[in-house]
Amino acid sequence: MNLDQAISERRSIRGFKPDPVPRELLEEIIALANRAPSSMNTQPWHFHVLTGAPLEAVRTGNSERMLSGVPPQREISSHGAYQGVHRDRQVEIAIQLFEAMGIERDNKEKRQDWVMRGFRQFDAPVSVVVTFDKGLEDDTIAHFDLGAVTYGLVLAAWSRGLGAVINGQGIMQSPVVRENAGIPDDQVILTCVALGWPDEGFSANSVVSRRRNVGETARFVGFDQDCP
Ligand SMILES: Cc1cc2nc3c(=O)[nH]c(=O)nc-3n(C[C@H](O)[C@H](O)[C@H](O)COP(=O)(O)O)c2cc1C
Repeated sequence: MNLDQAISERRSIRGFKPDPVPRELLEEIIALANRAPSSMNTQPWHFHVLTGAPLEAVRTGNSERMLSGVPPQREISSHGAYQGVHRDRQVEIAIQLFEAMGIERDNKEKRQDWVMRGFRQFDAPVSVVVTFDKGLEDDTIAHFDLGAVTYGLVLAAWSRGLGAVINGQGIMQSPVVRENAGIPDDQVILTCVALGWPDEGFSANSVVSRRRNVGETARFVGFDQDCP
């Protein structure tokens, strides 16, 4: 698979086969992701790759806390509820996913089940918790660096037939993740990636989310001037 194909065909995968992912393959993917650019080559990221019992403990802890109404506890500041165009886009993808899954708007039970999947890391065989060095806590650039490396991870996975979804749900109860994954105190939990072999029969995996086109996202400055 070439790069253009991986970029254009990748989509978030939220339904997985139970088959394990070999550790060597995960190491290969992480080695590629590690090639991401970062500010002054600081490489402030760490990956905590969970499977088996520790991942099960995270799923259980997340689910129990969310169901019993424990407020989300993340280690980074939250954007709060999206507004305006951001809210519109959020609603659009939610409608696409619910339609694919046959979840009717007023079916609270099915909607709740869907949300709980996220807290269970979509029942993926692997969850990669992405953290950064605590000394950079107030540095927005570190978040940029982690975005770059995480996207690289997802693309490298995709080009090997693996599916993934970057997700905030898995780390919404960060104390549970911190404890069960043994995250060192000098790291901050930013996000996680559920990862595994895509279940082709899972309808939401086919959803292609809409993107703004180039005319909507880019301005070209100085291009229309006559060349001397
Ligand atoms: C920082 C970040 C957090 C996300 N959190 C979640 C999440 O908690 N649950 C979820 O189902 N998807 C989550 N996503 C996936 C987005 O919904 C998805 O990338 C977006 O809708 C575009 O769809 P695509 O990835 O299929 O192109 C997250 C993505 C990013 C980059």
